[in-house]
Amino acid sequence: MKKVEVRLGSDSYTIHIGPGILAHIGRWLKENGLAGKLAIITNPVVRELYGAALEQGLVDAGFPVAILSVPDGEEQKSLETAGRLYHELSDAYAERTTPILALGGGVIGDLAGFVAATYLRGVPLVQIPTTLLAQVDSSIGGKVAVNHGQLKNEIGAFYQPRLVVADTSTLKTLPDKELANGLAEVIKCAVIVDNGLFAYLERNLAGMKPPGDGVLEEIVFRTAQIKADVVAQDERDSGLRNILNYGHTIGHALESASDFQMRHGEAVAIGMLAAARISNQMDIFDKKELLRLKGVIERAGLPTEVPDLRLEQVIQAIEHDKKVLQGKVRFILPRAIGSVFITDEVSLSLVEKILVDWHEEA
Ligand SMILES: NC(=O)c1ccc[n+]([C@@H]2O[C@H](COP(=O)([O-])OP(=O)(O)OC[C@H]3O[C@@H](n4cnc5c(N)ncnc54)[C@H](O)[C@@H]3O)[C@@H](O)[C@H]2O)c1
Ligand SMILES: [Zn+2]
Repeated sequence: MKKVEVRLGSDSYTIHIGPGILAHIGRWLKENGLAGKLAIITNPVVRELYGAALEQGLVDAGFPVAILSVPDGEEQKSLETAGRLYHELSDAYAERTTPILALGGGVIGDLAGFVAATYLRGVPLVQIPTTLLAQVDSSIGGKVAVNHGQLKNEIGAFYQPRLVVADTSTLKTLPDKELANGLAEVIKCAVIVDNGLFAYLERNLAGMKPPGDGVLEEIVFRTAQIKADVVAQDERDSGLRNILNYGHTIGHALESASDFQMRHGEAVAIGMLAAARISNQMDIFDKKELLRLKGVIERAGLPTEVPDLRLEQVIQAIEHDKKVLQGKVRFILPRAIGSVFITDEVSLSLVEKILVDWHEEA
């Protein structure tokens, strides 16, 4: 078992990482001064797989538990669902001191986190992420949110959990596509700051074969550590945290131009390669490194070719999403594997050229 500390002064917390640790949660809750009744927010898929084990462990540790379930899917990250949960919490006599445990992927984490941040002006939040994406990304850093109309993730708060428990055994039941989705964020973290993690991925990702227990634990540990360190230096996302957006400028545009048919991780994979190509075109990022990046993305089960989307739509989506000043847009570009820089010097015409050339190569 491993631990990562998220150092945020009086809001600091610990991320526990390892296989089969769901059963120990009761002890960690007590260590954090949490007591009394608990409310678990989850969905039917995750409840069926892990609800009973979690509940049993908590009941054995002396915690009465209420389980609140919302349907599976991104569309549940809404004010409507949050509103329903407020009623259910109130019906379950939840008080200011009643912790909310978010058991599930990033959708449950963001939604339950939003509810915890707002119900009675804030109740303790515990994240129990069960997807790779949630274990390395969304459960760390305190961004909680719902969607509202066109506003994706834009109704929310910074609200740090009291504790994160990432049981890597839960990743065994994750569909391959979901695993790949999380691996995109793992690769992102390696490229932005950790050449060693990148080399580890090169050695340990074996294409179609899902990673074993030891590899999963190591990957979650090292990536969670990176996210925790970045967040600790920039809790409110006003500077350094920007580097976590590597691959996301073009990634978001691809997702939106595909009407969200493209998975986030797939779009980020293409976005990371596109940024690397831009940097290569600017004579900064080495061609050999570009090939290494492509190799790891492939082995993660992620795409390495630009999809058949109307390029004008992709460019429009970038313009819509980002502040474009004099035809130029902010980019996070790799200098080498393990090092990135932020630049406002990339022109939209270069972005377009890179995407067109790449598409024609294929
Ligand atoms: N707060 C943040 O900083 C942050 C960062 C990145 C992403 N996000 C948000 O995270 C969400 C995406 O999260 P996600 O990728 O985890 O998707 P998700 O929560 O929809 O989970 C993906 C699917 O896997 C299922 N699932 C979850 N755990 C499982 C398990 N152990 N075994 C089998 N199936 C399982 C879920 O029910 C769902 O069908 C988006 O809403 C995104 O906006 C938030
Ligand atoms: Zn992302």
